[in-house]
Amino acid sequence: MTIYLNGQYLPLEEAKVSVLDRGFIFGDGVYEVIPVYSRRAFRPVAHMQRLQHSLDGIRLANPLGMDEWTAIFERLIAGCDSEDQYLYLHITRGVAPRDHPFPVPPVTPTVFVMANPLGQPPASVFERGVAAITAPDYRWLRCDIKAISLLPNVLLRQMAVDADASETVLIRAESLTGDTPATEGGFLTEGSASNIFVVNNETLLAPPKDHLMLPGITYDVILEIAAANGIRCEIRKIPVAEVFAADELLLTSSTREVQAITHLDGKPIGSAVPGPMFKKIHPLYQAFKRNVMRAK
Ligand code: PDD
Repeated sequence: MTIYLNGQYLPLEEAKVSVLDRGFIFGDGVYEVIPVYSRRAFRPVAHMQRLQHSLDGIRLANPLGMDEWTAIFERLIAGCDSEDQYLYLHITRGVAPRDHPFPVPPVTPTVFVMANPLGQPPASVFERGVAAITAPDYRWLRCDIKAISLLPNVLLRQMAVDADASETVLIRAESLTGDTPATEGGFLTEGSASNIFVVNNETLLAPPKDHLMLPGITYDVILEIAAANGIRCEIRKIPVAEVFAADELLLTSSTREVQAITHLDGKPIGSAVPGPMFKKIHPLYQAFKRNVMRAK
């Protein structure tokens, strides 16, 4: 497998980064994950705009122009042996002696890009849905930045794995102290690596895109699909009680697309099988994907 690192195309095993890289030392960097269908990047402009938002959030200039990014993507996509892939882009503040403030003068950022095959989940995910757990959202207050410092997300996701579930639904305490039990007060933010939608009374409820969640590209696609197909939507703060009382719960991400959560903390959601909203939105999402690719 060939990857891109700092201007070079290298076999993965030959790609090396200094131990003084600020990504390694401080998690001082940002990333993006862009799905690729039939060897074409899906919503590349939206992903690159979000990358710019993340870079602005950490006060790091974009090291490459759009043409340079595109040339890297094309070469890596061509070299990957799967038609459906995802691009992983990772930019850090670069290599400098260990010291918290930004290096003066600035150093060259580290840029890493790879393309990996994107597999489809097993059929059981569509037939039965997935299980999730809830946990207090104890992350920082800039979750709109797609930062590589993912330790909270990693710990929260592992809680799901330990509970034989596939995602952790995060509940932000009103007080923001993070110590309120997930089931007592608070409101939905997102999943540890996905956005979460609630379905109640045939209405799709989505938390607002603010500093407490990542503005998902798939989230936007789902809302566009809903608007185009007469599905009622409400974008507002969602209290935890509404999450547990949901008729359906959906999770979305670039790599998981849209999936139904049918159990939460071991309790059934709705009738504990993927419901009518999922059955409507999932094929619409697949059709949307195919149409976008055909139009290119
Ligand atoms: N994660 N929220 C969080 C915390 C995420 O990490 C992700 C995606 C999303 C969904 O965003 P999008 O629809 O743009 O993929 C929401 C990626 C897939 C990852 O870290 O691998």
